[in-house]
Amino acid sequence: MGSVLPSFQWLSLFFLIISVNVCAFKIPRLGTWQRSTKERDPEISSSLHLSDDDLKTFYYTQRLDHFNYRPDSYHTFQQRYMVNFKYWGGAKSSAPIFAFFGAEGPVDEDAKYIGFLRDNAPQFNALIVFIEHRYYGKSIPFGSSEEAMRNASTRGYFNSAQAIADYAAVLLHIKKTLSAQNSPIIVIGGSYGGMLASWFRLKYPHIALGALASSAPILYFNGIAPQAGYYYIVTKDFKETSESCYQTIRKSWSEIDRVAKKPNGLSILSKRFKTCDKLNKSFDLKDYLDSLYTDAAQYNYPSEHPVKIVCGAIDAAAKKTDILGQIFEGVVAYKQHRSCYDMNEYNHPTESFLGWRWQVNVIWSY
Ligand SMILES: *[C@@H]1O[C@H](CO)[C@@H](O)[C@H](O)[C@H]1NC(C)=O
Ligand SMILES: *[C@@H]1O[C@H](CO)[C@@H](O)[C@H](O)[C@H]1NC(C)=O
Repeated sequence: MGSVLPSFQWLSLFFLIISVNVCAFKIPRLGTWQRSTKERDPEISSSLHLSDDDLKTFYYTQRLDHFNYRPDSYHTFQQRYMVNFKYWGGAKSSAPIFAFFGAEGPVDEDAKYIGFLRDNAPQFNALIVFIEHRYYGKSIPFGSSEEAMRNASTRGYFNSAQAIADYAAVLLHIKKTLSAQNSPIIVIGGSYGGMLASWFRLKYPHIALGALASSAPILYFNGIAPQAGYYYIVTKDFKETSESCYQTIRKSWSEIDRVAKKPNGLSILSKRFKTCDKLNKSFDLKDYLDSLYTDAAQYNYPSEHPVKIVCGAIDAAAKKTDILGQIFEGVVAYKQHRSCYDMNEYNHPTESFLGWRWQVNVIWSY
């Protein structure tokens, strides 16, 4: 008994964390925490190791379909992964492997600022691995994103079950290549990547000895989580920050509708909110504000506290303007002064946006 413990003591650090907190990503639309992390939190971005010269990039010839034996299943694509050997104690000492699972975006972006693995690797003499999620970054099947996203048959391979099967294959490949059969693997991910890490531990317990799922709403599914959950927490954030701010936002939705219904109502709203393009419907504005508030709450880092910034401006404007004026002041405080505000800012069809939209439909409709 006693002999088993010491070598596994380091494991006490790692356990399957089920953390459903404010960082649970906005399910219908926004999975990418990367964007905001980098843009919005100067403290985080400046303390980032903005590049890791020790990370070497490799490509694994990955199987398109892990779950069938049709001829198509044996098509392959190149899957990107990155390895930092600097701290690794080597196969002989059974030093562990920390594997970060890419999520809905290019993995080299993650590798730039996820410091957790490098912070902990020296202590454990761990090998650091970052693996890219299929259909993102450089790990695109069918030759190009356009082809990969073309139709139901090509998109059919774009799902989380295939993605974690990819991770299993890459990790086994790495172990084999390094003759590291006895090196325990700890899988790590954040947000959707954290969900993948926890599912991986359940589904491939023989490959991962542990999983660290950070800010991962792993039980956020129809019929399990209350569907009001995400907005409930966003609302709570605002309410706790300022009751009057919460009340103002609450009243603003019907105020926007009321103004929109006036003759020239959309022009009035477009002017008041300095929209880059004229609003076509009040939803354009409401959807933008919805994204802005949820974004602020989801990335409500203490260093910046964007909810406080938005609410501070909304409350401060109470004496000098009406509800819409207050809301606009909140927008300006969050987005800074701009010549105009792009109502489609949160809907630009980037790879992450398109991929994530597809995935949400798939993974949330099991
Ligand atoms: C999808 O596109 C590919 C490539 O153009 C084509 O071969 C395939 O038949 C299409 N599948 C469907 C279901 O349309
Ligand atoms: C309104 O529709 C036009 C034409 O489709 C589009 O170019 C414009 O961006 C839309 N406005 C907003 C705010 O989305």
